[in-house]
Amino acid sequence: MPTGTSVHVSSRVSAFSYAIRNIVAEAKKVESAGRQVRYLNIGDPIQFGFTTPPHLVEAVTRALRDGQNGYVPSAGIPSAREAVAAEYTGRGMPVSADRVVITEGTSEGIELALSVLADPGDEVLVPTPTYPLYTAVLAKIGARAVYYRTDPDRDWLPDLDDIRRRISPATRAIVVIDPNNPTGAVYPDAIRRALIKMADEFGITILADEVYGDVAFGGPAPLIGAIDPDAPIISFSSLSKAYLAPGWRTGWLVVGRTPRLDEVLAGIRKMADGRLCSPGPMQYAVAPALAGDRSHQAAFSAALKTRAELTTKRLSAMPGMRCVMPRAAFYAMPQVTLPEGTTDQDYILGLLRATGILCVYGAGFGMPEQGGFFRIVYLAAPDVLSGIYDDMAAFTAEFLAR
Ligand SMILES: Cc1ncc(COP(=O)(O)O)c(C=O)c1O
Repeated sequence: MPTGTSVHVSSRVSAFSYAIRNIVAEAKKVESAGRQVRYLNIGDPIQFGFTTPPHLVEAVTRALRDGQNGYVPSAGIPSAREAVAAEYTGRGMPVSADRVVITEGTSEGIELALSVLADPGDEVLVPTPTYPLYTAVLAKIGARAVYYRTDPDRDWLPDLDDIRRRISPATRAIVVIDPNNPTGAVYPDAIRRALIKMADEFGITILADEVYGDVAFGGPAPLIGAIDPDAPIISFSSLSKAYLAPGWRTGWLVVGRTPRLDEVLAGIRKMADGRLCSPGPMQYAVAPALAGDRSHQAAFSAALKTRAELTTKRLSAMPGMRCVMPRAAFYAMPQVTLPEGTTDQDYILGLLRATGILCVYGAGFGMPEQGGFFRIVYLAAPDVLSGIYDDMAAFTAEFLAR
């Protein structure tokens, strides 16, 4: 190749977008101009002073010391898979350990499942707003994300009529994020039942992202699979959020017991073979996490609820702003009434440059850029959040007066 000619980059890259991290480049510019940035973009509890339960750290440390440093089975170590199966069975979705795959976080489970379910040109129903990995992975595999609406006027619940309208012969799966990032919604049983009924009627698989199931403020959210364990459901979760170990990259996917999913399970296991295994030593924490002391979860959820209430109260008090109270996790999706001709990015970049507060604009989650939605991660301590909301209120008043 002649020197000076740049190497080809695939078109996949331009289709792949993950605003939550991409926006950090803008924050770095602000930092290099001498302003301190307050990062409210990434949902990592560890960065805000929450700590991994010691018995999990101990389990991983012991595994490392005991020499468990080789490859492990590609579907995961038996004790971890059995613990996940027992957890799901105990929560009303009976499965055997051979339908569990230990993954590199929920993220890898999502990528494996989508890769097995959708061909290029196939369609997958994805909520708006969405957690952006779904659309990014679909772009990578050449399948089409078809957005369905969730409704801020109804606590961000899915719009069932909208979903029905968007199902086509090419629809392979529907993504259900419950409890939800970025809205903090928790779906009632009636909605879950209706989603299962629709999936059954049209022969589509439910991809149930349940990574926030144990950080709901009203107590652990039930599994969607508990409504009908024979429905075509693949559930994902991990140690990242409810067990406060996001850097360990350890999670699981569970393929429902229906024989309709047997081929899908075989496909997932075949693909999982190709990446050898997910990190081995961390898998030794899965059984202690699921079967051991979970007392940290009540304390974590209570701390989050306090922050959610503070966030909703302060945001709702800002003229031109509204905010639905989150019921789980650590995200809120407020909406600012944008002045004519401005976008959510204008607001978020303006906020960043003027105050150093970094949130993510709604378009990064599949919302229209004129909608004025954005996401706040409210993991910071209440007094820190309070100071942040003072500055946000001042900036917003100025922005809206333009
Ligand atoms: C809805 C949702 N799914 C999946 C993930 C990825 O989590 P993990 O660390 O388990 O890969 C996140 C992370 O923020 C998330 O919010």
